[in-house]
Amino acid sequence: MSDLKALPKLELHLHLEGAAPPAFIRAKAKQKHIDLSRIFDAQGHYSYRDFTEFLRIYEAACTVLSTPQDFHDLTLAVLEHSAAQGVIYTEAFLSPDFCGGGDLGAWRDYLAAMEAAAAQAEAGMGITMRGCVTCIRHFGPAQARKIAVCAQETAGDFVTGFGLAGDENMLHPKDFAYAFDAAREAGLGLTAHAGEWGGPQSVRDALTHLRVSRIGHGVRASEDPALVDDLAERGVVLEVCPGSNVALGVTPHLRDHPIERLRTRGVAVTVSTDDPPFFHTTLCQEYQALADQFGWEMPEFHAINHTALDAAFCDAATRAAIATRLESP
Ligand code: ADE
Ligand code: ZN
Repeated sequence: MSDLKALPKLELHLHLEGAAPPAFIRAKAKQKHIDLSRIFDAQGHYSYRDFTEFLRIYEAACTVLSTPQDFHDLTLAVLEHSAAQGVIYTEAFLSPDFCGGGDLGAWRDYLAAMEAAAAQAEAGMGITMRGCVTCIRHFGPAQARKIAVCAQETAGDFVTGFGLAGDENMLHPKDFAYAFDAAREAGLGLTAHAGEWGGPQSVRDALTHLRVSRIGHGVRASEDPALVDDLAERGVVLEVCPGSNVALGVTPHLRDHPIERLRTRGVAVTVSTDDPPFFHTTLCQEYQALADQFGWEMPEFHAINHTALDAAFCDAATRAAIATRLESP
C-alpha cells in the first residue's frame, strides 16, 4: 500500500535500547574503546541464533550506553527513526537496570537526559514519547523492586507506565506482584510480556498476579479459545510484534501468525516493532506485511491505531491531542 508511510501511527511496544541502530552502538563502542565486534555479523547487523543469545547480545550492546548523554543521543536517534515511519506517539520501555543499575539518583539523571531529548524531538519532529519503566524478569524480583522504586519516584507526565520484559522462561509473574503493586499505587499503567514464550497460562498468570491492562505479545493466548474469549470480553490489549515473533522463532512464518485470528475473534490488538534493528524491521514494513499477508487495509490500520490510543498510558490532554492528529493528519 503506497500511503502507509503517511498514515499517523501509535506504537506501544518499543524497547529503547532494542531500537538502537547498530551503527549508533558501533560508534559509541569505538569512542569508548570497547570491542563489540562479536555481536555483529559481516553485514554489520546484530547477530544471534536464538532468544537466549538475543538477550545476551542486547545486554552486551547496552554496555556502551554508560552516561546520561548516551541515553540522550539514543533517544534522539530512536525517535528520528520512529518519526520517519509516521509515528506520532510512542511508548518506549525504559530500563533503569541499564541506567545506573537501579540506583534512584543515577536513574533521575538518565531520565532527565531522555526526557530532554524527547522534548527536543517533539518540538522538532512532532513525535510524542512517554516512558514505561521496565523491570527485567531474569534479573529477579529483588532487582525488580528497586526498579519499581525508580518508577514510583519518577512517575508523572513523562513516566506513565510500568512493565516486565526479559526471559519469560524464568520465574513466575507472582514473583513480581510486589513491584507491580508499588507501580499501581503510583498511578502507573501496567503491562507485562507474557504469551510470547509461555503458553496461555502465562497470560492468565500475568493478568491475575500483576493485574495489567495490556500484555506484551500475548500471541500464545490463541492456543486457548476460552482465554481468547476472555481477553476479548475484558478488553485486554495485546501489544503484538509480528516481525519480532517471526525473527525469534515464536511463529515460523507470518502466514501462521495468530494476530489475524485474535483480531477477528474480537481481541484488542495493536502492532509494534519491539526491537526493530534486531529483527530487520520497521513499523511501515510491519504494516505492509500485514496488508500483504492478511489483506489489511486502511480500516484495519485505523482500528489498531484507535485501539492503541485508547490503551495508551498518557493523560487525557495528550490523548485528546493525539486523537486530533489521528483524525486530521
Ligand atoms: N526485551 C527486549 N525484547 C524482548 C522480547 N521480545 N521479549 C522479552 N524481553 C525483551
Ligand atoms: Zn518486548
